[in-house]
Amino acid sequence: MTDMQTKLPDPPVFVGDPFDEQVLRNPHALQDELRELGGVVWIEKYGYYAITRHEEAYRVLSDHARFTSEGGIGLSDIRDPGAWRPPSPITEVDPPVHTTRRRALTKVMSPKVLRGWRESFKAEAEALADRLVAAGVVEGVRDIAEAYVLKVFPDAVGVSAPREAFTVLGEVNMNQLGPNNEITKRSIEAAGEHVARYESYFQRQATKPGGFARMIYEAEDAGEFEQGTAGFHVRSFFRAGVDSTISGIGHTLLMLAQNPDQWAKLKQNPSLVKGAFEEAIRVEAPIQLICRTTTEAQDFAGYSLKPRTKVGCLIGCANRDPRKFPNPGAFDVERSTAGIHVAFGQGPHNCVGQNTARMEAECILGAILSRVERIELAGDFDYKVNNTLRTLRKLPLRLIPA
Ligand code: HEM
Repeated sequence: MTDMQTKLPDPPVFVGDPFDEQVLRNPHALQDELRELGGVVWIEKYGYYAITRHEEAYRVLSDHARFTSEGGIGLSDIRDPGAWRPPSPITEVDPPVHTTRRRALTKVMSPKVLRGWRESFKAEAEALADRLVAAGVVEGVRDIAEAYVLKVFPDAVGVSAPREAFTVLGEVNMNQLGPNNEITKRSIEAAGEHVARYESYFQRQATKPGGFARMIYEAEDAGEFEQGTAGFHVRSFFRAGVDSTISGIGHTLLMLAQNPDQWAKLKQNPSLVKGAFEEAIRVEAPIQLICRTTTEAQDFAGYSLKPRTKVGCLIGCANRDPRKFPNPGAFDVERSTAGIHVAFGQGPHNCVGQNTARMEAECILGAILSRVERIELAGDFDYKVNNTLRTLRKLPLRLIPA
């Protein structure tokens, strides 16, 4: 416990509903309000501390001794009696257990392994971009982001589940990090039979030689992961890696269409494609909420926090904190915030797949950039409603060939 001699005040209280559907569709006004209330705000309706500012989010995510992942990275404490899901063997354990598992996972996704996939990621991107340019008007989510990610990512992981399973199950997972509300229930219904068949998609017999999944099973055989955990590690790739990347690519396309001056910079200097993706996931973080639990009563950021209480880092809110990012809502492809924004998390659990996501984005966006003179919105765009995933549902785009 930190200095409890003079008791600090409790954090300010917010009594509204951050999981209201209208708020989820357009969260920025509420996030601005919460951020100005305090770096920590008590969300009365659900009983958790919201971490609203960049500095505080960075500190929470970096400090497992005070903010454990072992209560789960969603809003409910998975250690409570009747917990409805087993912990993830990677995201929901703290160091030192986490450190060994993380080392083994990092090896599977090493730069050398990733380099081996680059050519095929590029070739798929080029072929898709040719078809897109020929079509002219396209649906940016379905025809670009989903079409690309759902081709290259399952191939690289080396599992052959039905492609739509990844998005519908991903949406269930991301809803379940929030409250068990109507939104969560609807997504479970929509996932239908895939929910029951989920585990079977990640079994050893479903994996292909050379893919990340088979490498994880081989690492388990070599004693680098505990026996019986490989399937769960493969599953966490899908939990974390599909919808998030689709969201990031979708938002980059949207922001490039909305900001022709930024597109023009990319045309002049195509290597800025990386900055465009990084900036899009800063401005609209794909994963909006990542939770920890306080390990003890403590002082934090000028407030007194209760023990064993959920702490929800509002990732998107922290990434738009004007204290850290001047003019935070502006999309600036030259801003250079990789490793500083928290869209990929921070600290021991920072995203192990971030370079895979970046490679996917660079390949598909680069292939479009080289074939397209201008990119424009061809109608209204809108959002899916999800408790923690911020992703587009519809994005009509016109690609004007170079
Ligand atoms: C734009 C795309 C992505 C975003 C925004 C994203 C975001 C995140 C965030 C915020 C975390 C931290 C969770 C925590 O602190 O508890 C995380 C962890 C993780 N991500 Fe990603 N992710 C992305 C892509 C991927 C991909 C492509 C993969 C798989 C190849 C992946 C696999 C993982 C795994 C396994 C973890 C857990 C790491 C650990 O606990 O040590 N992610 N991701």
